[in-house]
Amino acid sequence: MRNLKIKDGFSLSELSLGCMNLPLDNKVEAEKIIESALNAGITYFDTADLYQFGENEKLVGEILSKYRSQYDFTLGTKVGNQFDEKKQEKIAWNPTASYIKEAVKDSLHRLRVDQIDLYQLHGGTIEDDKDETISAFEDLKQDGIIKSYGISSIRMNVIDYYKQHSSIATLMMQFNPIDNRPLEVVEDLNDIQVLARGPVMKGLLSEKSLKVLDEKFDDGVLDYSNEQLKETIESLLSINTDLTALSYEFLRKNDAVIVNGVSSVEQLNSNLKSYDKAGDLTDEEYSRILNAVKTLQYGEHRI
Ligand SMILES: NC(=O)c1ccc[n+]([C@@H]2O[C@H](COP(=O)([O-])OP(=O)(O)OC[C@H]3O[C@@H](n4cnc5c(N)ncnc54)[C@H](OP(=O)(O)O)[C@@H]3O)[C@@H](O)[C@H]2O)c1
Repeated sequence: MRNLKIKDGFSLSELSLGCMNLPLDNKVEAEKIIESALNAGITYFDTADLYQFGENEKLVGEILSKYRSQYDFTLGTKVGNQFDEKKQEKIAWNPTASYIKEAVKDSLHRLRVDQIDLYQLHGGTIEDDKDETISAFEDLKQDGIIKSYGISSIRMNVIDYYKQHSSIATLMMQFNPIDNRPLEVVEDLNDIQVLARGPVMKGLLSEKSLKVLDEKFDDGVLDYSNEQLKETIESLLSINTDLTALSYEFLRKNDAVIVNGVSSVEQLNSNLKSYDKAGDLTDEEYSRILNAVKTLQYGEHRI
């Protein structure tokens, strides 16, 4: 497993585990997924306080705490969406310093840790008081409550602001050959590490591609109709019959940490096999992928 070093002095495994889709109703399977991931050399686990309104953090914290003495790993979570844990409902977007400093205590408790390795702002708008949010993250870092911080955003104006005015170590965005909107962003990130979520596009870039196309992409996605997606998948298959490996290679070419979500051990194992197959693309191979897909750009939230 390759590792990528982020600027606050620790490394994330190139293939990481997105925990959002872990089967919460099947703890045995969820633990098997996490244990298999650790055994395969995955050292970064991504969750968020909002996922299942705190329940995801609790499950991930409970399982990972059993493995802490055996494995060295890091944990990332997110904040900014205020929710009612008891009623299991979202209240509001809340990036204020007072909220972040309270919410972090709940995440520490649910995750069973004394310090959060990577604390990410879970969205954000240009209207937020961004300097206040940044100072909250800086204070938490200074106090040793978090090791590092980042943002998860697909808004160019928000990303630009944090690039210029904060010391974010990471930027999470949906990124894969089909949703290639981040390409214009990653060119100019300096020491900010991209975390690519959605690398298999909900399974569209997997061995179950055609089934997923029928079941999840009836109305197409982004600038693609369902039919156009089918044609694109066929073009990509002519480049590499393993679409997951193709996506991983594409993301590796962009120096991304690949945050892949799974809901079963079978999916994890299949993705790990593809990871083992993934190599380094030549410029020519990379161009073939780019020629097979549309070049997309973020439309809104640019100014
Ligand atoms: N705004 C944010 O910050 C944000 C938003 C979304 C996600 N995330 C994070 O990023 C992680 C990854 O994103 P994601 O879960 O949306 O994207 P993803 O990793 O592309 O998709 C995960 C889903 O794809 C399907 N899948 C995975 N491997 C497969 C395989 N080998 N064969 C067939 N299907 C497969 C599964 O769907 P089924 O379960 O339906 O089978 C799985 O739940 C999340 O877990 C979460 O930690 C962050």
